[in-house]
Amino acid sequence: MAGAVAVETNKDEGFNAPDSNAFGHSFRDYDKESERRAGVENFYKTNHINQTYEFVTKKKEEFEKLNRAKMSIWECCELLNETVDESDPDLDEPQIEHLLQSAEAIRRDYPDQDWLHLTALIHDLGKVLLHPKFGAEPQWCVVGDTYPLGCAFDESIVYHKYFEQNPDFKHPVYSTKLGVYKENCGLENVTISWGHDDYMYTVMKENKSTLPSAAFFIIRFHSFYPLHTSGAYSYLMNDEDTENLKWLKIFNKYDLYSKSKVRVDVEKVKPYYLSLIEKESGFVSILRSDFSSLAKRLLWFASEEEEYQCSQMFETEKRGKGR
Ligand SMILES: [Fe+2]
Ligand SMILES: [Fe+2]
Repeated sequence: MAGAVAVETNKDEGFNAPDSNAFGHSFRDYDKESERRAGVENFYKTNHINQTYEFVTKKKEEFEKLNRAKMSIWECCELLNETVDESDPDLDEPQIEHLLQSAEAIRRDYPDQDWLHLTALIHDLGKVLLHPKFGAEPQWCVVGDTYPLGCAFDESIVYHKYFEQNPDFKHPVYSTKLGVYKENCGLENVTISWGHDDYMYTVMKENKSTLPSAAFFIIRFHSFYPLHTSGAYSYLMNDEDTENLKWLKIFNKYDLYSKSKVRVDVEKVKPYYLSLIEKESGFVSILRSDFSSLAKRLLWFASEEEEYQCSQMFETEKRGKGR
């Protein structure tokens, strides 16, 4: 992970947010009668009953191994196209459109922050957990808003009433304001409900991504609406979180409001994003130092050329061992 990036506070006023989502309704309106409303409520009921501190701890241990599949970032974007996010009342487009719509909108307003363009491109890639290659995980532990576990559920969490059926709801420690945490302990140390955000963050961390800490923060907390939209849980934040939250708030507008009927010409913009993926170079140097164990991992940050180099190194290593 690289260092902090100064926030450009004056730019985000330029973003023209549309009034309605892909269905012609206002954004994140969970009360609006849409075909998907009942499904969304049911989704959150299952999510809130089953996401417990113990459940998340087990999921993290299972998926930290990164032993499901190996692919480049662009292959992953294409794979994601085969999935639908049932928790989202706004989006009915292929996922790759959403990734590129948000990345392109940010690129227009923040042309110099190429790390943010790449962050937007990859922010939802963790949704591949829904795909059979990654175990076809159920929707309720992949998508939807996220929230901390191990401390009380804040009232601002959508469909909060369903937490009453969660075993942690009456737990002597987990039901208290601070729970297992210390005041201002930093969000990095907080267990967050399991889903595509925490998974992608884990993938970046394990692959030693060189993106700045704000990118890690955005990826891990972009569905943490109680934090970035309602201002809840601020007592768990440290100074670095306060800085990174500024970038997350900027990112969130593009993540949310780009879910409209604006189409992106995928083939036209693809070369630019491939060049950003090429720049994400931390991976290969790490790979060289410990190739045998990392070879089994998910190569999210390997471009085609890097993969070729890796396969050459692997061959050389095999030949070396044979002697
Ligand atoms: Fe997301
Ligand atoms: Fe998104």
